[in-house]
Amino acid sequence: MARTDTAQPIRLADYQPPAYLIDTVDLTFDLDPTATRVKAKLAMRRNPDGPGGPLELDGIGLTFVSAAIDGKPVDVEILPEGLSCAAPDGAFTFESEVIVNPSANTALEGLYMSNGMYCTQCEAEGFRKITFFPDRPDVMATYTVRVRSNLPVLLSNGNPVKIEDGFAEWHDPWPKPSYLFALVAGELVAHSDHFITSEGRDVALNIYVRPGDEDRCAYAMDALKRSMKWDEDVYGRAYDLDVFNVVAVDDFNMGAMENKGLNIFNAKYVLASPATATDTDYALIEAIIAHEYFHNWTGNRITCRDWFQLSLKEGLTVYRDQQFSGDMRGHGVKRIEDVAMLRGRQFREDAGPLAHPVQPQEYVEINNFYTATVYEKGAELIGMLKTLVGEDGYAKALDLYFERHDGQATTIDAWLKVFEDATGRDLATFKRWYVQAGTPRLTITQDREGDTFVLRLAQETPDTPGQSSKLPVPIPLRYGVIGPNGDDLFGTETFELTEAADTLTIKAPEGSVLSLNRGFAAPILLEYAQSNADKLHLLAHDTDPFNRWEAGRDLAKAILVNGVDPDPYLDALADVPSDETLEPSFRAMLLRLPTEGDLFQEITRRGEPGDPGAIHAKREALIDAMAARLERPLAILHDALPPEKPFSADPEVASRRGLRLTALGLLSRLDGGARAEALRETADNMTDELAALGALIRTGKGDDAIAAFYDKWRHERLVMDKWFALQITAGRAADAVDTAERLSAHADFTWTTPNRFRSVFGALAATPAGFHAPDGRGYDLFADWILKLDPKNPQTAAGTIKSFETWALLEPGRKALARAALERIAGTARLSKDASEIATRLLGG
Ligand code: TRP
Ligand code: ZN
Repeated sequence: MARTDTAQPIRLADYQPPAYLIDTVDLTFDLDPTATRVKAKLAMRRNPDGPGGPLELDGIGLTFVSAAIDGKPVDVEILPEGLSCAAPDGAFTFESEVIVNPSANTALEGLYMSNGMYCTQCEAEGFRKITFFPDRPDVMATYTVRVRSNLPVLLSNGNPVKIEDGFAEWHDPWPKPSYLFALVAGELVAHSDHFITSEGRDVALNIYVRPGDEDRCAYAMDALKRSMKWDEDVYGRAYDLDVFNVVAVDDFNMGAMENKGLNIFNAKYVLASPATATDTDYALIEAIIAHEYFHNWTGNRITCRDWFQLSLKEGLTVYRDQQFSGDMRGHGVKRIEDVAMLRGRQFREDAGPLAHPVQPQEYVEINNFYTATVYEKGAELIGMLKTLVGEDGYAKALDLYFERHDGQATTIDAWLKVFEDATGRDLATFKRWYVQAGTPRLTITQDREGDTFVLRLAQETPDTPGQSSKLPVPIPLRYGVIGPNGDDLFGTETFELTEAADTLTIKAPEGSVLSLNRGFAAPILLEYAQSNADKLHLLAHDTDPFNRWEAGRDLAKAILVNGVDPDPYLDALADVPSDETLEPSFRAMLLRLPTEGDLFQEITRRGEPGDPGAIHAKREALIDAMAARLERPLAILHDALPPEKPFSADPEVASRRGLRLTALGLLSRLDGGARAEALRETADNMTDELAALGALIRTGKGDDAIAAFYDKWRHERLVMDKWFALQITAGRAADAVDTAERLSAHADFTWTTPNRFRSVFGALAATPAGFHAPDGRGYDLFADWILKLDPKNPQTAAGTIKSFETWALLEPGRKALARAALERIAGTARLSKDASEIATRLLGG
C-alpha cells in the first residue's frame, strides 16, 4: 500500500500571513565536512497582521546546540520538523546554534558537498536544513553572512564586506526570502569581467569553476553581459549590487538557481568550449544564464508570497528568457522550438494523471511542482496577456508591476490586477487560465457564404484529476488568409473568443486558405479540418513561420496516423534543402518529423491505445522514405556545405551547421555511414563529433567509434554524459533497455550525480520504443533504480518516476506491466514524500 496517510497536503486556501517578521539575519558558518556549525541571529518582531501564537521555526536534520532570546537561553520544544518556543511581544533577537553534516547530504538540498566544494540549494524549502527559520518566501530580511574555512574561495549573497585568509563576510542589502540564500566555498578559480550598468554602477562579474575549467567560461560570460544589457534595454531593469557571481557545480538537481548575487549552476549550463559543447549546449547556456539573471527582478526583487504563486516568477521569467533568445537567435525558429517543447512536455502533463493548474491549489511536496505547466504554460499565459493588451499595454503593465511591487512577496492576483489597472481591461475570466488544468480544445467548423468564410468556434476544456465542469477561457485567435496565388491577403488579425461558442466571418476569395492560431498565440488544441491540399498551400506560402512549419507537421501526422499518401508531402519537402529564402535552421525544422511522443499524444487523444513500438516503426519508415525521396537535394546541399571552419558558436553559423547535420543524418540512412565516418575523422568540434557518432551508431557501425570516443573523452565528465546518453538514444530501440542496463553497470556510472543518472535513465525515457519495451523490462529497470536512488536523492528520484506519466494510455499489455512497476514503487516502505506523491498521483490516488 502507498504511504498516502503520512503526508498532509498544503492548501492555498489555508494561507495565513507569517506570525513573526524578520528584519535582519546574521549567520556564521564554521565549515567542516561532517560538522558544520551554523549560528543564526534573527532580529524579529511579531507581525501585526499575523495570526499570533508561539514562535515556530522550520528545521530539518539539524543537530540542536543552543537557543536564546535577547541573549538569554530559552526553553524550546524540538519538533520533528522544527522548533517552538514562547516569544516576547515586542522586537527581540532569536539566536540559535546548530550542527549540520554537509558530506552526508546526498539529497543536494540545504548545505552539501560536491567534489570537495561546499554548496547550497535552498529553493524551495532547503534553508530549513541549514538553520531554524520561518522558511517561507513571505518572510524577507537582509542578510549578513560570515564564513570561516581554509578553502580559498568563500562566497555568499550580496556584496563582499571583508575577505581575508580563512574568513569572508558578505552583506546583502536587498531584503530577500530564505530560498534565495546561498553559500559556496571551495578551491575555485574565477573567469572575471565587468559590466557598467545604465545607472553607472560598475559591476564585477565572476564565473567560478573548478581549476582546469576556466577556459570554458567565455560563452557564459558573454551571454551574461548580453542579458544584463537586454534587461536594461527591453524592461528598463538594471542590476543592483556591486558583484554578480556565478558558480558551476557538478552535483545539482536542476538547471540552475537564481540566488541573489550568487547564481549557482549545474556545470553543464555554464561550461562550454567548441571541443566539448554542442550548438544545443550553447543555446541552453545562453537561455539559462539569461533566465537566472532575469530572476534578479522577476523573482528576487519581486518574489512570491507562497509557493502557489510559483508561476508568478517562473512563468514570467521563462517568458522573458524566450523573448531574449528570440532577439538573439531569431523569433521564428525559437517560437517553433518553444511550442514543440510545450506540446511535448506540458500538453502531455495536462493530458495525464499529473495535470494541475498553473496555480496549483494544493501540494504535498512543492519540489514536485517545478513543472512544465508552472513554467512553460505559465510563460504562454503571459504571451497571451500581451497579445490581448498589446505591446504598449504590456509595457505599461510591467512598469506598474515593478513600481508597485518592488520589494514585495506577492501573488498572481496582484499581477493580474496590475494589468487591469494599467490597461483598464477586466481580467476576471483570464484568471481561469491560471486555475483550470487541462488544455482547451477549440473546434472550428466552416461554411462558405459567397465571398466569406463563416467559422463556428466552440471551446471546451477537458476534465482533469480533481477538476470538472470547466468554464470557457478567453482565447486570442490570431489568423490570416493565404490567397489562391500564395499571397498573404491582409497580414494577421486577432479575434477574441470569450464565450464557449461564437462565430467569426472572414472575407476571402475562392481558393483562399485560412491560417489559424498563428504563432500559436493561444496554447490550445485546434480541431479544424483542413484538406491536405490546403496544408500544402500553407507549407509553401504561409508568411507566419510557425504556421508554415505547422502545416508540414500536420501533413506528417496525417500520413503517420491516418495513412494518407506521403508522396505530395515528400515532393513538397524536396524543394526545402536548397530554398535560400528560408533560414537554414528553419529548413532543418521542416525536415524533421513529429516526435514519437507527439504521435503518441495524437493517437491516444482519439481514444486509441498507444503502442510506442508501432509508432516507432512507422515513423522510421517515413524517415527512410524521406531520405530516399530527398537524396539528391540533400546530397547537393550537404556536399556544398563543408564544415564551418574555424568553429564559431554564432547562431548563423550554428544554423548552417544544424542544416548540414540534418542532411547528414538523413543521408546516413543511404550511404552506409560513409559521410558520418568522414566527418568523424575531421571533426574539430563536439557538435560535428557527436552528430557523426550518432549517425554511425544508427547505421549499426558505431562500436569502434563508441570505444574511441570513450578513450578520448573519459576524463571529461560533461562529454561522458553525452557518451552514455547517445548509445541509448541513437541505438536500436529494441536494444535500448539492454544498453541502459549495461551502462548502469559501467565503472563510470556515478549514479548519485544527477547528470550522470539522467544520462542513462533520462535518455531511456526519451526513447519511448526502448523504455516501453513490450516485455516490461524497461519499467522494471526503472523501478529498481528509482528505488535505489530515492533514499539518497528524493527529488531526482521523483522526477524520474514522471517517465511513467503516460502509462494509462498504453495498449493493455504494456499498461498492465507499467502499472505493476508503479505499484511496486508506490508500495515500497519508507519511500520519500517526493516519490510517494508522484507514484500515488500517477496511479490515480
Ligand atoms: N528557481 C530555479 C529556476 O527556475 C529552479 C529551481 C527550483 C531549482 N528548485 C530548485 C534549481 C532546486 C535547483 C534545485 O531557475
Ligand atoms: Zn526560474
